[in-house]
Amino acid sequence: MLVNATRMLKLAHEGHYAVGHFNINNLEWTKAILLEAEAQKSPVILGVSEGAAKYMGGFKVVAAMVKALDESLGITVPVALHLDHGTYEGVKKCIEAGFTSVMFDGSSLPFEENIEKTCELVNLAHDKGLSIEAEVGAIGGTEDGITADGEVADPEECKKIVALGVDFLAAGIGNIHGIYPEDWTGLKLDALAKIQEATGGIPLVLHGGTGIPDDQIKAAIAGGMSKINVNTDCQLVFAEATIEYCKAGKADPTAENKEKGYDPRKLLKPGFQAIQAKVREKMELFGSVGKAA
Ligand code: 13P
Repeated sequence: MLVNATRMLKLAHEGHYAVGHFNINNLEWTKAILLEAEAQKSPVILGVSEGAAKYMGGFKVVAAMVKALDESLGITVPVALHLDHGTYEGVKKCIEAGFTSVMFDGSSLPFEENIEKTCELVNLAHDKGLSIEAEVGAIGGTEDGITADGEVADPEECKKIVALGVDFLAAGIGNIHGIYPEDWTGLKLDALAKIQEATGGIPLVLHGGTGIPDDQIKAAIAGGMSKINVNTDCQLVFAEATIEYCKAGKADPTAENKEKGYDPRKLLKPGFQAIQAKVREKMELFGSVGKAA
């Protein structure tokens, strides 16, 4: 059931659990995550970066694919189709294309410009029934070619942007996209407490969900992080399972390979199953299992 993310995140925030945002890259990714969410009776957010949307053929292709899969697979749990780290133009296109939720990432802009553009996009998104995430203080790491340090958001800036009516806020607390460096010092939970206080209890978003120790994830959820973004973890397990399959000779192009394991439906299956196992593990950790409502 395609919905916006407002209600599912409000319930998560009140219930002290988090909803997983899993980035999608293709049909296999989308199907694996939807089926696992249904099996776990968990709400879920499908995150799409502008780069991934371009890869898949465009925002309209993504929206049509997700809508059709959701219906054809008989998915009953709440599913939000969410633009991840959207630009001003990208957000407008996704609103038209049929996404149910968007993120406007104005964190690299001067703060006044971020406020101005976020304000306009909040109104546009809400007019069409979409939920909207905003960001202050760039999240560290590299995503779609943009690199930043593990920044910590300023609570006063968070307060100002939340006052525009955003539904949930990405606020950096030292988190980083991708694999964490050896010398990473961990999440700044004291900063999280100040941000949550300044924003009056709005659901917060933890980007860079791959590689954060479980105890820190749990502490972040207790501190108000209600949406946790995971991308790299699924990529890693997909690659690992596929490599293992190939190393075992199952995709070898020989006449002796009677199983014909080079058939893409067979070749991509171990990765598909690995994504499902990873999504299940995260849903259990985030506490969203059985929380579809
Ligand atoms: P990871 O790739 O570190 O899991 O981060 C995902 C993310 O934050 C997407 O916005």
